[in-house]
Amino acid sequence: MLARRKMYYSFLDFFKMMKYLLLGQQTLVVQAFEKKISEYFNEANVITTASGREAIVIALKSLGLVPGDEIIVPALTLGELIPLLKKEGYTVVLADVDEYTFNVTAKSISKVLTLQTKCIMVTHLFGVPVEMTEIMNLAKDKNIKVLEDCAHAMFAQANKKAVGLWGDISILSFEGNKPLPAYGGGAIITTNPDLISYANKVLGKQYALKFPILKKYIMTVVEELFLMSPLFKPVASVLFSEKFQVTFEKYYRGMNDKVRPKSRFTSFQAEVGLENFERYKKKQNENHDKKLLLESHLDLKKYRVQKYNSGDICSFYNTTILCDDAVAAKKIKAKLFKEGYDSGIGSEVIDSCDKYFEGTYQSQYAKQIEDRILLLPIHDGTSNRDVKSIAKLLNEF
Ligand SMILES: Cc1ncc(COP(=O)(O)O)c(C=O)c1O
Repeated sequence: MLARRKMYYSFLDFFKMMKYLLLGQQTLVVQAFEKKISEYFNEANVITTASGREAIVIALKSLGLVPGDEIIVPALTLGELIPLLKKEGYTVVLADVDEYTFNVTAKSISKVLTLQTKCIMVTHLFGVPVEMTEIMNLAKDKNIKVLEDCAHAMFAQANKKAVGLWGDISILSFEGNKPLPAYGGGAIITTNPDLISYANKVLGKQYALKFPILKKYIMTVVEELFLMSPLFKPVASVLFSEKFQVTFEKYYRGMNDKVRPKSRFTSFQAEVGLENFERYKKKQNENHDKKLLLESHLDLKKYRVQKYNSGDICSFYNTTILCDDAVAAKKIKAKLFKEGYDSGIGSEVIDSCDKYFEGTYQSQYAKQIEDRILLLPIHDGTSNRDVKSIAKLLNEF
């Protein structure tokens, strides 16, 4: 079975974990990781956090947002962000995405902008850069803050400028399948030093705990071994089936959520992150090559690929295609699975957020994309032969 993602973990991580457990937090290693990220972002201020979600919560508070403030959020993003933001007391307003780039645009944001809007959150979905120039002009005109969610998009560039350097503040995620993996964690990036003081205050109250990261490490190893084992196919065929999929997806997401406690990013993660940083260019180039190969073999009259501006650089977080309709997407998924290609559970952590608004909001495109999207196991760990046979299977359908 070809897994839907390639994780950048090695068995040597076990020794790094042991070192962390025995010696405890090595602050200098975390600082070295933050410095590495800061250098990438032209010496911007960088603070690591326990997760990307936590980075978002802290970043919004750093921007001065208080409960009751209105935030514009993409209608297509990680669904769990909506209850999280609502729990913080913010009024969440959704902006629909573009049908071709899957990203918010200045136009879709303008449609929902009000006098109460305090912040616009943009997500560079699957590592495809949002068209930032117009959005920044709009925000400047109205004196609204912009938070860039770069959870999928570390190392992407829009108009030759790194994604993450456009907004007032940005966040990263270091989950296992993200462009820079480090057994989870996140970071806040900002060129404005005034914005970092709140984040520093929060961090000052946190501790580098051993149990949560050990649990995360064990869970990751178990999951990876399972994905590689011959057991994966028979077990997944039950868990991903119509009958169990909804329950399993809920459990799977919940499980991932809970392993991010409010503790510090650890030196174990920083050490892994520093190592993976050295590999990113190769990984990005290989992902790019595989995507081009897929596109050159795919019948583009039948399927749509996510569009991006020529000249922009994507992080290539995930390879997705859009099918004609939801029924076709389900059938194709089942066919790929049967042939040994894992295309994930449900829409795999990307949601049309309409469902959080109980009928009061209906997106034009986000829902359509959620229903019709297929995540393909095409990444730097996929052979050219597999890319071609996936394209062939899709074309035959
Ligand atoms: C778009 C988006 N934003 C934020 C996050 C949160 O990152 P984390 O999983 O590190 O909390 C994710 C996670 O997948 C995401 O997909």
